[in-house]
Amino acid sequence: MKHVLIGSIAALALTTGAEARQKIVVGHALSPSSHYGVGAQAFIDTLTELSGGAFTGEQAPASQLGGERDMIEGLQIGSMDVVITSTGPLGNFVPEIFALDLPFLFRDYDHARKVLDGEIGQELLDRIGENNLVGLAWTENGFRHVTNSQRPIRTPEDLQGLKLRTMENKVHMAAFTGMGAAPTPMAWPEVFGALQQGVVDGQENPVTVITAAKFWEVQKYVSLTGHVYSPAVVLASPALYDGLSDEQKGWFLEAAKASAAATRAEVNRLEEEGVAMLLANGMEVITEIDRAPFAALAEQSSYAVYTDQYGTGMVERIKAVE
Ligand code: PAF
Repeated sequence: MKHVLIGSIAALALTTGAEARQKIVVGHALSPSSHYGVGAQAFIDTLTELSGGAFTGEQAPASQLGGERDMIEGLQIGSMDVVITSTGPLGNFVPEIFALDLPFLFRDYDHARKVLDGEIGQELLDRIGENNLVGLAWTENGFRHVTNSQRPIRTPEDLQGLKLRTMENKVHMAAFTGMGAAPTPMAWPEVFGALQQGVVDGQENPVTVITAAKFWEVQKYVSLTGHVYSPAVVLASPALYDGLSDEQKGWFLEAAKASAAATRAEVNRLEEEGVAMLLANGMEVITEIDRAPFAALAEQSSYAVYTDQYGTGMVERIKAVE
């Protein structure tokens, strides 16, 4: 309930003389210095500048207002203003989004960004808009890799029986079941403690998150499996957005684009510098991985979760983007 109270206070319009000013809260799961934090600040700065100060903002970082699923619900009931979230829990609200969570679908960052910035990305933002949410822009979390406390993972055999925290996402869970792990869905705010206490052996996240969360404190091994691309999205509450003028909506859209650009630049930097940070902090990093056997098992077990309902059309269209 914490987010209901804080969100509604933040959404209050402050009237000074003839000018109405409004402070927008941007919620996300990571630290202010993370790739999401950098993106949240770019959103706030751009919105403040474009609106000449009519809108200002502040971050609610580090899951202060709840996990990603809680924050999305907050947008739907109008207690949150703007949220930057991975697609992890979003498919539970907008099932078509599960297409983006399929493992080994995107070839590399260029491919993913091209899909999300093009026709398919816009179609999916529109779909989000039909589900009591506003999809402002696609942003990014990154390609996910497996970390754990038990052993180096080089082959699917090494994953057998490993208790692995996944996001609350049925496509990801099916993929890890297929690859032999024992997936345990869990909200992000619980993950560090669960790793520390040995409730789970491992987790999977991009280098951006592994560094932001300082997982070297609780995990020994990182395997650069790159098993799935993790998109993120800047969302707004319809209760806020629908009340804006067209000009104000334009500022929010521009701010979201600036946020995505800043986050992607930070993802690029961490993709270059992050592995050195992991090594410097004592992690063993397994870089030489034959992805083919992982891909075969993951695709076999997880693609049907999406294609049984929606067919293979979207998957083929994504793969065809050059
Ligand atoms: O693992 C997750 O839940 C997500 O990747 C995270 C860390 C919340 C970032 O969106």
